[in-house]
Amino acid sequence: MKDILVTGGLGYIGSHTVVQLIEKNYNVTIVDNLSNSKIFILDNIEKITGKRPHYFNIDLTDYNKINSCFSKNKFDGVIHFAALKSVSESVNHPDKYYHNNLNSLLNLLRCMKENDIKNIIFSSSCTVYGQPDKLPVSEKSPFKEAESPYARTKQMSENIIEDFTNSISYLSAISLRYFNPVGAHHSGLIGELPLGTPDNLVPYITQTAAGIRQELKIFGDDYNTHDGTAIRDYIHVEDLAEAHITALQRMIENKMKSKYEYYNIGTGVGYSVLDVVKSFENVNKLKLNYSFSERRSGDIEKMFSDCTISNKKLGWNSKNGLDEMMSSAWKWEKNISKFLKG
Ligand code: NAD
Ligand code: WQD
Repeated sequence: MKDILVTGGLGYIGSHTVVQLIEKNYNVTIVDNLSNSKIFILDNIEKITGKRPHYFNIDLTDYNKINSCFSKNKFDGVIHFAALKSVSESVNHPDKYYHNNLNSLLNLLRCMKENDIKNIIFSSSCTVYGQPDKLPVSEKSPFKEAESPYARTKQMSENIIEDFTNSISYLSAISLRYFNPVGAHHSGLIGELPLGTPDNLVPYITQTAAGIRQELKIFGDDYNTHDGTAIRDYIHVEDLAEAHITALQRMIENKMKSKYEYYNIGTGVGYSVLDVVKSFENVNKLKLNYSFSERRSGDIEKMFSDCTISNKKLGWNSKNGLDEMMSSAWKWEKNISKFLKG
């Protein structure tokens, strides 16, 4: 049985990946400081899988604490999700983002080096591409100017990881560049848990439907798209989790063609904000309060992936469509308040 360390494993994408790792018989250790998650997620991972992963409440910016975790275990691989992820917060508090996201990564890589750990998968983002010159965006597209400090931490992290793989003979790494992860586990037991007012579209939609928010404001109706609203590549979180399993297998089975690989993880299909709203209403048989407002500053008109390389090299394909994303997101939203009350 292989031992995997999952940082940020109680968060949105991490928890779905932990579930699939356990289902594939990996032995999982989670490190998460609960800065953007809740401990009930650990109970719910156990409810889904029948197994409780090892869990350490450690802040990755604390080198001594994280190193003590490495000295007790010999990991076959690390999946590094832990990071702060709000674009708007990063614009106002770049210090917080550079400190948390970069020091966490550096401490982790240092521990890996000192303990001869060979494999790391990193949560990157389509934001590394900035405003791409052409769509769909493929891995061959260059990094353009970062649109936020958050995005810059992802570009810098990828560069740091590549440098480490060049300098450490046994180290391999894969960065997965996620597009727009949405939806929740089909059980309704884990999902995205925005603490405070959500920045992102889908949690805002589900909270509006649940009566927590009054109405959704659709940012911009004058984009050059089929209905005037902006286009994104939404990917079901369970498909995204599966991409990590596939990438991990590629590393552990020594199938990598170079020491550092990076892949787009999206569906390759772009949907507008109104497409998402309509799907949510249709599949859940609900009417959503919404109105149109000004464009959100910093938003781009269209973003969607070319996933040919990840489909071919990783042998991974997304399976779920927009309706599954919207029905699972709503199923989860209806459960959240019960779990938060405990
Ligand atoms: P999340 O906030 O739900 O999960 C991140 C987890 O990491 C949280 O549980 C948080 O408590 C933990 N964490 C943060 N800093 C930590 C630290 N210093 N020490 C220990 N634990 C810490 O976020 P998510 O949506 O699951 O995102 C996971 C990763 O994927 C992040 O790196 C994020 O930047 C990246 N990503 C997310 C999206 C998205 O839209 N959700 C898109 C692209 C990339
Ligand atoms: C999607 C669309 C909004 C909220 C962000 C990060 C990116 C990545 C994914 C981490 C846009 C519109 C939204 C609302 C709206 N995360 N919208 N009303 O901006 O594509 O990407 O999350 O790496 O880094 O920037 O996602 O969900 O915020 O927005 O109309 O209340 O929904 O304008 O067109 P985005 P989003």
